[in-house]
Amino acid sequence: MYGQNFTINKEPVIIGIESSCDETAAAVIRGRKLLSNVIISSAAEQSKYGGVVPEIASRAHSDAVDCAVAEAVRNAGIALKDIDAVAVTYGAGLLGALLVGLSFAKSFAYSLNVPLIAVNHIRGHLAAAYLCEQTLKPPYVTLLASGGHTAVIHTKSYTSFEVLGATGDDAAGEAFDKVARILGLPYPGGPNVQRLAEEGKDVIAFPQSLVKNSAEMQFSYSGLKTAVINYCHNAEQKGEAYSRADVAASFQRAALEPLVRKTVESALKLNVKTVTAAGGVAANKYMRETLSAACAKENIKLVLPEKAFCTDNAAMIAAEGLIQYLEGNFAPLNINACAHIPLK
Ligand code: KG4
Ligand code: ZN
Repeated sequence: MYGQNFTINKEPVIIGIESSCDETAAAVIRGRKLLSNVIISSAAEQSKYGGVVPEIASRAHSDAVDCAVAEAVRNAGIALKDIDAVAVTYGAGLLGALLVGLSFAKSFAYSLNVPLIAVNHIRGHLAAAYLCEQTLKPPYVTLLASGGHTAVIHTKSYTSFEVLGATGDDAAGEAFDKVARILGLPYPGGPNVQRLAEEGKDVIAFPQSLVKNSAEMQFSYSGLKTAVINYCHNAEQKGEAYSRADVAASFQRAALEPLVRKTVESALKLNVKTVTAAGGVAANKYMRETLSAACAKENIKLVLPEKAFCTDNAAMIAAEGLIQYLEGNFAPLNINACAHIPLK
């Protein structure tokens, strides 16, 4: 019967499955070693609508999930019987999209008679760093910036972490996507804003993303986003020319500089010697360069996952799956998907 006599392996082969947004992804790891990493994206189709349409995402996942899994197994050079566990994102994300990956993973785990591991997408983002630096171990401080979350996090042990500061409104990635729309750039917005920013100068004084005079470390992106909208609309109403590239460069700095500064300050305050970065916005060139420089200046070791491991992928889900596997933290087959999971 399912769930009895699971063999626990010290160097398990884990397949990760991710379907929370517009990427259908599957990846295989053995211990911390990445064996394969497949991503099938519906971003090009979503781009026609200027953002992710949940129903299109769900249908794309349905079409792609079995191919992604089969390719991940094939590329890893393993047989199905080698798989020790199936790790899958159960939240947060688009409910219909999550359900496709979760349902597939449940039946896959059942048919192989291996544990199912339910992974919180954000913890997956944090765990991506373990694949990039095999010797990484807690404690470390992470700059997390994705489409839905922005926070500075202290990972104290493999299974416990503390949110040192977070956004009170929009997430950094969300702000990049909204500013992209204001500037007439297509979805996905973040990389396009970055490209435009590279042609501009940081000369416009937009409000910074850090809330001033707050007892806690708190970020805010809605004021910055509104300031960008007002700047562009005012100029357009007056018929004045303005540089979209300067807007992009000035926005990018206002959005990211405080995050980078506060991450490094937090590590210094806690006397933590390692910093990592996670989430789609950590693929941003300005962020990568400024965080690298700030860590180097303070003699802090920086573990910066390659860009493909910052944006959504299944390798990070397998990596978090490994942590849960070693804890024996397995999910029941009736576990449901969750659109929202608190960061803590
Ligand atoms: O982590 P992620 O792939 O998905 C979520 O879990 O949300 O993050 C997606 C976010 C999007 O808002 C996207 O615009 C942003 O990451 N992003 C970037 C860059 N690449 C992706 N933002 C700024 N610069 C980039 N190069
Ligand atoms: Zn993500």
